[in-house]
Amino acid sequence: MTLETRKLTPRIGTEISASKEQLLRGGLREEIRELLEQRGVLLFRELNLTDEEQYEFAMTLGDVIDQGFKGIYKITLDPTLNETADYLHATVHWHVDGAQDMVPTRASLLTARVLSKVGGQTEFANTYAAYDDLPSAKKSQVDSLRVIHSQEYIQRAMHPNPTEEQLARWRQHPEQSHPMAWTHRSGRKSLLLGLTAGRIEGMSDADGRKVIEEMQAWATQPQFVYRHEWAVGDLIIWDNTGVMHRVEAYPADSGRLLSRTTLVGEEPIA
Ligand code: OGA
Ligand code: MN
Repeated sequence: MTLETRKLTPRIGTEISASKEQLLRGGLREEIRELLEQRGVLLFRELNLTDEEQYEFAMTLGDVIDQGFKGIYKITLDPTLNETADYLHATVHWHVDGAQDMVPTRASLLTARVLSKVGGQTEFANTYAAYDDLPSAKKSQVDSLRVIHSQEYIQRAMHPNPTEEQLARWRQHPEQSHPMAWTHRSGRKSLLLGLTAGRIEGMSDADGRKVIEEMQAWATQPQFVYRHEWAVGDLIIWDNTGVMHRVEAYPADSGRLLSRTTLVGEEPIA
């Protein structure tokens, strides 16, 4: 262990004190990835990486998704800065990025550039810890459930009364059936829920909804959650395979802007 670390809460989040130079030198890949898997969220306070440096640092940790400009995707509600900004309105709901896919992204790096005067703090929930703390009877029940995830449920959150045409368009994206408990290659299990989770195989829509909501409430209890109050220049990395996240609502014209770089998914949900 070469990095100086401090736990942010008992169950999720570790702050790392390191200089830009130390991080960009590389050679920390295994240590950082191990910490990320164990702690869910890594915080580097006011590290102030430039977009180029963030991309460079991300490349030392894994393969980077070609999204945005030179691997930097702008998180903003301003459609003049990001043409898919509209979609980001849904991020106020707990979610796992790409849970409607077979292989969700591995992790994301997020640097705060401009803060909102109101709202805009981000919360992360450790879904490994949430699974581990289930009573054993509940674990067996959860182990047997499969959940249907779809892009449609993200859209429904933003457009609660869809037209037939909207529904038809959303349903062009295939749905995915995933186990509610994701058994990772490591043998550890995490709960897989969030906004994309719509119904449960073999249950009526209403019964499935009830179970999803119950488990969602379980997984986002305060002991599993780290809430980050941003300062400009803070860098957060979250493990997208074992963490749900959401942002506190903020005004679309607040100017809030973060730079995101995302690592390619490595493990199909199983
Ligand atoms: C994301 C996301 C939350 C935020 O980048 O995937 O959900 O705080 N961001 O803006
Ligand atoms: Mn997200």
